[in-house]
Amino acid sequence: MVATGLLVASLFTLACGKPLSRLMQRHDARSDIPSGFVQGGSASPDAMLKLRLALVQSDPAGLEKALYDVSTPGSALYGQHLTQEEAAAFAAPTSETQQAVNAWLSENGITATALNPAGDWLSFSVPVSQANELFDADFTVFTHESTGKQAVRTLSYSIPADLQGHIDFVHPTTVFPQFKINRPVTFKPLKKNLTERALPSSCATEVTPSCLQELYGIPSTAATQSSNTIGVSGFIEEFANQADLKKFLENFRPDISSSDTFTVDEVDDGTNPQSESEAGLEANLDTQYTVGIATGVPNIFISVGEENSDGIDGFLDEINALLSQSNPPHVLSTSYSFNEPDLPFSIANNLCNAYAQLGARGTSILFSSGDGGVSGGQSEECSTFVPTFPSTCPFVTSVGATQDSSPEVAADFSSGGFSTLFAIPSYQSADVASFLSSIGTTNSGKFNRTGRAFPDISAQGVDVVIVFQTEIGTVDGTSCSTPISASIIALINDELTAAGKSTLGFLNPLFYANPSAFTDITSGDNPGCDTNGFSAAVARTTGYWSRYPQLRVAENYCWTLGLLGIPVMNFRNYE
Ligand SMILES: *[C@@H]1O[C@H](CO)[C@@H](O)[C@H](O)[C@H]1NC(C)=O
Ligand SMILES: *[C@@H]1O[C@H](CO)[C@@H](O)[C@H](O)[C@H]1NC(C)=O
Repeated sequence: MVATGLLVASLFTLACGKPLSRLMQRHDARSDIPSGFVQGGSASPDAMLKLRLALVQSDPAGLEKALYDVSTPGSALYGQHLTQEEAAAFAAPTSETQQAVNAWLSENGITATALNPAGDWLSFSVPVSQANELFDADFTVFTHESTGKQAVRTLSYSIPADLQGHIDFVHPTTVFPQFKINRPVTFKPLKKNLTERALPSSCATEVTPSCLQELYGIPSTAATQSSNTIGVSGFIEEFANQADLKKFLENFRPDISSSDTFTVDEVDDGTNPQSESEAGLEANLDTQYTVGIATGVPNIFISVGEENSDGIDGFLDEINALLSQSNPPHVLSTSYSFNEPDLPFSIANNLCNAYAQLGARGTSILFSSGDGGVSGGQSEECSTFVPTFPSTCPFVTSVGATQDSSPEVAADFSSGGFSTLFAIPSYQSADVASFLSSIGTTNSGKFNRTGRAFPDISAQGVDVVIVFQTEIGTVDGTSCSTPISASIIALINDELTAAGKSTLGFLNPLFYANPSAFTDITSGDNPGCDTNGFSAAVARTTGYWSRYPQLRVAENYCWTLGLLGIPVMNFRNYE
């Protein structure tokens, strides 16, 4: 267990006297307060602020190359995942950076704590008065109107001019908390009454584990490898309830022990209280569809504490905690996201590189694509399409939603589109080019034709049965599709581990190179922003794919996690 976010503020700040003043240079500023927030007064000078410094990493390009080397089928290094030290070395700041930053911190009487083995993230606490001086800032209290939550932020900050090029950014400063996440928002009654222990074998009315096993050819036999694990992210006080999981397994996996469960990994003092009223819809869904599908795979619910989970802090702290573990989960399922425009490139890029580090070590990282169609995580007014992050990070696998089973079609809420921050990665460039040429000028000007396209795969996400606060009901969302997909990967990893092989790790180069493992989703669209969004269509019908006429790659919208109908064992052919 690694403590993240722990820090020791120096007691000698004032005793050391005023530090030499350095020439300061504006590092970031915003001209407006984000909508939804109102400005209050200055933050109390004595209030303690926990700040994080992101230092410039020494070799992000080297990390990217190493990630592709171990993840691209055919590469001599395929499957030879990096050790913790090897991966961290790429992210570690140069010794020059470390010295320059440490000298400045100690000059100010600050002792910082490294948040991960690479040491590219430092954390320390100082009173607001000192933070204002250190960064030429004006830390102010802002209130988020709809939630009433307060955040201390500054509209601009500076760093010493000689530290430009060493400090990437300071957080939290100008970036405001994100309270938008995608998760199933409503719990619906069942379309028909499911008789306990008399389970529907098809997906005709509701999606259950047995329906998914049948639809996607998922084995029901238990995994055998205790070293192979799956992690499930929990944010914003979403708690996973054991009693609900037990009832879910009793009803929908009567073939396995109803005491199968998860362990809890606490980040930022996260907890997992068990009272019925505190059970979370998202957390229940995520744990029920990982424990319930990834049969017998050790399951870790990662509960990120609310204290630091302003959205971004929680995401940063979770990945830094996982990077600090010597044996992080082999699959990470996360059904929370941001609208990409709400994050500055610096933070998105830093998180994305952290996911690359974990991917290079052999973890498959899956994020839900969002539930607002082309309007992003939520349906909102928009004149241009709103991509979601982390889905737009090229180093993660983005999961969209489908519905129905014959044929399976794209769910209309499923977010998908093109990044405005990250360029098209080579593993998907041919597919994206084909898709773009197929849509002609549709939606022209509303999205970035050179951006990374998402999602990468998709799975069932409508009328998915869960138990919530003892009731059986259904939910919709890419939040369903993500743990389902992650569980399939975990089961494949179990087979690979049993065969003495490495786990799948970063999935996308493998997936895009092997469309025959997938069912192509060829209809459905994802409306939003007063358009029909993108339509699913057959893609890349020429060239290489003509050897697989019956199994075409999906277009950018839904590369169905086809495993689908294809025995999991087929995947072994590709490692
Ligand atoms: C399911 O059963 C309950 C009570 O037995 C009933 O109130 C409800 O209408 C039924 N729902 C459906 C969809 O048949
Ligand atoms: C489009 O994406 C590219 C690559 O990520 C980026 O450099 C460019 O700024 C984007 N353009 C717009 C208008 O968003």
